[in-house]
Amino acid sequence: MTMLQETPTVLATEENEQGYREFSLGEFHFRRDEYFVYITWPTGSHVLSADAFLRALQRDVAWAFFYGIVNFDGVLGTVNHYGTVDLFAGRYNDSYRKAELDHVENFPTPQIKTTFEHMLDDWTNQTFDPFAAPRETGSAFGVKNGDNKSAITRHRVAAKRMVGCSDDEPIRSDDTGHLINEHFIDISQDEPEIIAEPGFEDEVKAFSLYTYLSRSDVTWNPSVVSVCKDSLFCPTTEEYILPIIHGNDRVEWFVQLSDEIRWDVADRETGAIRAKVVMRSGDVAAMPADIRHQGYSRKRSMLLVWENADAELPELIATGQTPTYPAEF
Ligand code: PHB
Ligand code: FE
Repeated sequence: MTMLQETPTVLATEENEQGYREFSLGEFHFRRDEYFVYITWPTGSHVLSADAFLRALQRDVAWAFFYGIVNFDGVLGTVNHYGTVDLFAGRYNDSYRKAELDHVENFPTPQIKTTFEHMLDDWTNQTFDPFAAPRETGSAFGVKNGDNKSAITRHRVAAKRMVGCSDDEPIRSDDTGHLINEHFIDISQDEPEIIAEPGFEDEVKAFSLYTYLSRSDVTWNPSVVSVCKDSLFCPTTEEYILPIIHGNDRVEWFVQLSDEIRWDVADRETGAIRAKVVMRSGDVAAMPADIRHQGYSRKRSMLLVWENADAELPELIATGQTPTYPAEF
């Protein structure tokens, strides 16, 4: 079932007994208590742990619904149609589909974005940072206890050309307030020496990506550090579990820059397992356009996600004009 919701329905009701507000979006209803988030829709209901829900919600909000599908878990998630967004329950779950318990509603992006932002703000206590690794944050649980607006509204680095260019994001240092993460104290902090021809000082730029990433205070949150037409370099630092299961609508490349990540790769439509991938420092992999994936990183690691931002790709792939894989061997 698909319906386009025309009117804003940021329906936050009164606070519940635990001090949290409840939210409605179309026929979906969201409620949280000390430990859990409860979601209902006309044909079913679902429960998620509050910490996992908030980590996923934080990514969906910060990435403006990302490329393709953001599964919060095997049941709940969003599909980005770049202007509108589907909110679904069970749509990409074989059992829910077969039992006809799945439910999808389509919303204009600003409407679902506003509702999600309010929910994230109201349900994130002052002790919890949804972007942080578990060892770096306090608890998400308990009754309502303040807020953490500065953590949840962190601005995501999105370079126009490249980090370090004069009109762009600064290179990170102690001075910019970015401290070296405990897991990366062995990373060299040297920056490259740039010797530009006179007159080209503003055009020739370089920075150490390892230094840059060693100072990241967020996990599973790719920054855009360079842009060349549709080619985006989106490196990120990873620790614990990718809070969403991403269903690709295009091919993306992974370059493991340090340490190790284990990936579970499953069918995009059904969730059936397709592969287990272990990526160690120096490994390169292409994730096809018909899968979903989730990563696990025991120690903080560095990953370069290479994205193709061409807006025509989802349609070309969905209609079979472009293959779901990047290369023929
Ligand atoms: C992905 O879904 O490809 C993805 C998302 C966030 C990350 C890494 C990979 O931090
Ligand atoms: Fe992905």
